[in-house]
Amino acid sequence: MDHLTVVRHPLVQHKLTLMRRKDTPTAVFRQLLREISQLLAYEVTRELPMREVEIETPVAPMRSPELDGRKLALVSILRAGNGLLDGILELVPSARVGFVGLYRDEDTLEPVQYYFKVPDHLDDRLVIAVDPMLATGNSSAAAVDLLKRQGATDIRFLCLLAAPEGVDRMRQAHPDVPIVTAAVDERLNEKGYIVPGLGDAGDRMFGTK
Ligand code: URA
Repeated sequence: MDHLTVVRHPLVQHKLTLMRRKDTPTAVFRQLLREISQLLAYEVTRELPMREVEIETPVAPMRSPELDGRKLALVSILRAGNGLLDGILELVPSARVGFVGLYRDEDTLEPVQYYFKVPDHLDDRLVIAVDPMLATGNSSAAAVDLLKRQGATDIRFLCLLAAPEGVDRMRQAHPDVPIVTAAVDERLNEKGYIVPGLGDAGDRMFGTK
């Protein structure tokens, strides 16, 4: 896969525009994120592990491919990652799931870890880390560091929106980790928000402020 894939499908772009609107209510925002996560999942799961199984159609026996969901680990970077996670899990319910808890120190913009729980044998899995906003890239790079330390070697990063700064940071820190996103925006502002962006994804998803 390329290091950066921007999914320009009209359905993705339309839903993203609705999500960006500041007046979009929380419940609609959450629903859109769920829908868009499934469309993005289509792109990020292109190389999912498969296995051949023996089946019988009404006409004849055959060997046919099916997903080896146990070989997939979805890792949500809390808390906003859960908005992407839920939709993808509906598509691949047998995937194993992990969580990385990182918050951003508002002064330094550096990530601080508060939770880490991932499936065993990450070295044997395709790991898809999900976080809607790739902003400075500091937490994303830190989360991927943790996953690699835990043995993961085949990692993809899925986000909804990225800033050029975040993409560059990830390219430098983890050139082996392809990024899939719906858009790369203009820049970060002085508070580390993506411009024009959509605001704080966690707040918009959960109705907090
Ligand atoms: N996190 C968000 O939720 N939004 C941004 O714009 C940047 C980081």
